[in-house]
Amino acid sequence: MTQTSHDRLLIIDFGSQVTQLIARRLRELNVYCEIHPFQNVTDAFLAEFSPKAVILSGGPASVIDEGSPRPPESVFTFGVPVLGICYGQQVMMHMLGGKVESGHGTAEFGRAYVTPTETRLPLLEGWFAEDKEQVWMSHGDHVSAIAPGFEVFGTSPNAPYAVTADVARNFYAVQFHPEVHHTPNGAKLYENFIQAAGFTGDWTMGLYREQAIEAIREQVGDKQVICGLSGGVDSSVAARLIHEAIGEQLTCVFVDHGLLRKGESDEVVAMFRDNYNMKLIHADEQELFLGQLEGQSDPETKRKIIGKLFIDVFQKYANEIDGAEFLAQGTLYPDVIESVSFSGGPSVTIKSHHNVGGLPEKMGLKLVEPLRELFKDEVRALGRELGLPASFIGRHPFPGPGLAIRCPGEITREKLDILREADAIYIDQIRKHGLYDEIWQAFVVILPVRTVGVMGDSRTYDFACALRAVTSVDGMTADYYPFSHEFLGETATRIINEVKGINRCTYDITSKPPGTIEWE
Ligand code: XMP
Repeated sequence: MTQTSHDRLLIIDFGSQVTQLIARRLRELNVYCEIHPFQNVTDAFLAEFSPKAVILSGGPASVIDEGSPRPPESVFTFGVPVLGICYGQQVMMHMLGGKVESGHGTAEFGRAYVTPTETRLPLLEGWFAEDKEQVWMSHGDHVSAIAPGFEVFGTSPNAPYAVTADVARNFYAVQFHPEVHHTPNGAKLYENFIQAAGFTGDWTMGLYREQAIEAIREQVGDKQVICGLSGGVDSSVAARLIHEAIGEQLTCVFVDHGLLRKGESDEVVAMFRDNYNMKLIHADEQELFLGQLEGQSDPETKRKIIGKLFIDVFQKYANEIDGAEFLAQGTLYPDVIESVSFSGGPSVTIKSHHNVGGLPEKMGLKLVEPLRELFKDEVRALGRELGLPASFIGRHPFPGPGLAIRCPGEITREKLDILREADAIYIDQIRKHGLYDEIWQAFVVILPVRTVGVMGDSRTYDFACALRAVTSVDGMTADYYPFSHEFLGETATRIINEVKGINRCTYDITSKPPGTIEWE
């Protein structure tokens, strides 16, 4: 549970695909909330968590089925406002004495319009632009009788109980999903709900910073902490925050595996060592990594080698730090949320991700994870609060195995050097055209193929490269970025003219799925 103290809202998760979005909408309103799977929410849990309000999420189950998920009864006697969404609405009605049915013609998926009743509900205040409002429905069952004490405040053609409430008890229930993009005014409904619940909007990054610093000091005492710094946003913000809390007790280890971008290693060292005066070990292990990768062309083998070496190297340097008892990690809230799985079974490994997981047990270290409660955009806000430069905070994600996975097939120093030059030009072009912040990630891939070209009067036989640029919200799905032909032409010309070793450029227009963002 959380390390810091704020007004807290509890989201009980019944397995909806969009539960995380509820949390994000609330965080945007400066409300601290946590998502917990329904199985974990017992009477004791509720008492300890002590929420100021509860939201029951949607989910794929049917309340009519035996053994379907339920919140504890005490949610309704705890004395705080409750909002049920979709399955949450149905479970609420079912438990409080209403009726839910399934059957022909009751399912509704997609856009619908809710019309308010004559009596207006404070929850809907300021919500209806006109006499009806667009919402997103996604339900199989429907409520056929509302529970005693409830009244109807909004209807849609297929959902006569689209919005209901027991105003006296502060219980609200909606059939649609106010958290999704397709309910354009949904945030207003959350805003009204948290206002009704008396939240003061005390979740700000300024306050979080102060409280997190206190919590780190308390946890660490006078012991030493080590932190793997990759130069990415998460580890950088974590390091800055911990450094503010405990200064000299923190040592960062920056592993240079020889697979970084042009100038990257100098930038990171200059920023943290020179600018912030942090204790920083710059582990130059290029020879080791590139040596072991020599002759390897299978993507998973390459990833495994890098992952293992990374842990070995980190451990070697960490062992040199006297009295280190803690390992700092930039774990974020989405990694912490236990999602409710109804399908069961492990998911297929598409790529083995490289991180320092497993290290703490191996080394007998305790974890310091000051970003565990934050979403990515909150981490960025905290980074700004801590004074990290905007250009640094807005950087595109860069994978742990670095350029290794942008160099399909065998990795050679020659290819890496060519790739670094081409990538620097591509990013320069994107920045010059003011497109950097519109793009989730952009990079060059050097292809394991040489092609014939002609430059001046001579024949060339050089590498081909692919440019990749995608838009995405979370890296889980992605679309290729629609550059103009002028931009692509100008960039290809620059790369081919300025980078010795490349004579052909292609643009990758694969979305994810079916492709992945990286090539390996
Ligand atoms: P894919 O290629 O799977 O990538 O579509 C999704 C996102 O994850 C990043 N990525 C990684 N990040 N370690 C990381 O820290 C890794 O091993 C790794 N592999 C891919 C990728 O850059 C994209 O942002």
